[in-house]
Amino acid sequence: MTELEGRVAVVTGGASGVGRALGARFARAGMRVVLADVEKSALDATVAALRAQGGDVSGFVTDVSDFASVASLARHCFETHGAVHLLCNNAGIGTDESRTMLWDSTENDWKWAFAVNAWGVLNGVRAFVPEMLKRGEPGRVVNTSSGNGGLVLIPTTPVYATTRSAVSTLTEALHLQLKLVRAKLEASVLYPGPHVVAMNIFNAARNRPAELPPERPLGKPPTLDDLRAWSEKAGRGFKVTTPEEVADYAFDGIRAGRFYPLPESADMDQRIRARVEGVLARRRPGASARLNSLRGVVRGGAEDSLRHGRGLGVDAALVHFRA
Ligand SMILES: NC(=O)c1ccc[n+]([C@@H]2O[C@H](COP(=O)([O-])OP(=O)(O)OC[C@H]3O[C@@H](n4cnc5c(N)ncnc54)[C@H](O)[C@@H]3O)[C@@H](O)[C@H]2O)c1
Repeated sequence: MTELEGRVAVVTGGASGVGRALGARFARAGMRVVLADVEKSALDATVAALRAQGGDVSGFVTDVSDFASVASLARHCFETHGAVHLLCNNAGIGTDESRTMLWDSTENDWKWAFAVNAWGVLNGVRAFVPEMLKRGEPGRVVNTSSGNGGLVLIPTTPVYATTRSAVSTLTEALHLQLKLVRAKLEASVLYPGPHVVAMNIFNAARNRPAELPPERPLGKPPTLDDLRAWSEKAGRGFKVTTPEEVADYAFDGIRAGRFYPLPESADMDQRIRARVEGVLARRRPGASARLNSLRGVVRGGAEDSLRHGRGLGVDAALVHFRA
């Protein structure tokens, strides 16, 4: 699908961060864009802002963790626009888990993270793909995963990483099954980065459903300055990727038909290579200096959280892994 003008794009988690930037990029290319999000006020503001820039953008309040809600989004899109060519299953949350070890992790954190980060993507696939296939037009499903879990692992965020690795596997299976049936549809998996994309995901608790409350005290979400300070304390640099940069390389990847629209990053490449080579060499994970210096980051974050009541946050350790 190289020609995007006039085609229809749906982006979940479209009110903020990467989703909003994807919506803006697609609108700039002349696509008709439907943004779906659970946070109505943010969604309304984003739709208004993108319309003010001349985009053909609308919003639809959707909870991706609820299949009925995603199915009604799909019905709305097909009825209003007559087609969907590009589906971005992008909504995602993090659970401020990095001060808790896996064996102390709580059931509701797992349930919420899986509901949004894994079921949310599957719900999108099940609600949209049958109708997209039936209509027989070229199209693409882009599922947002994370380099954390999807490609390599940050050991302090296993809940988040496990849900994101599920998305990588699911998307690879989707790609292969679409090939198997010779569909005109294709799939891609998006890994926002290569550095931390400092968006509202650190404040994901704002959208936490009441029926899955936290079962442990939460820290205040970390700020960019916290991340920078922890990183510098551990003797590492600190870089940020903007959501617009992610949207740009995702957009180029979509037009080029890439399964992995990955940005250039020697550091990320080196970590992926190390992981794969480790498996081939039958080596156990963790035999690297990185794990030792991560101890310093975790200790720094924990001390800081005791002093200031801030948690390390979902991807805080990314600043360490993504120098
Ligand atoms: N920020 C990063 O460094 C980073 C890195 C790798 C991957 N990601 C992934 O990128 C995606 C976007 O993250 P972001 O950084 O833009 O975060 P963000 O919080 O700015 O945006 C996520 C959006 O998803 C929405 N959302 C949350 N729960 C929802 C639900 N149940 N139904 C519908 N919408 C819901 C939120 O309201 C928000 O608008 C996520 O899937 C995240 O896992 C982010």
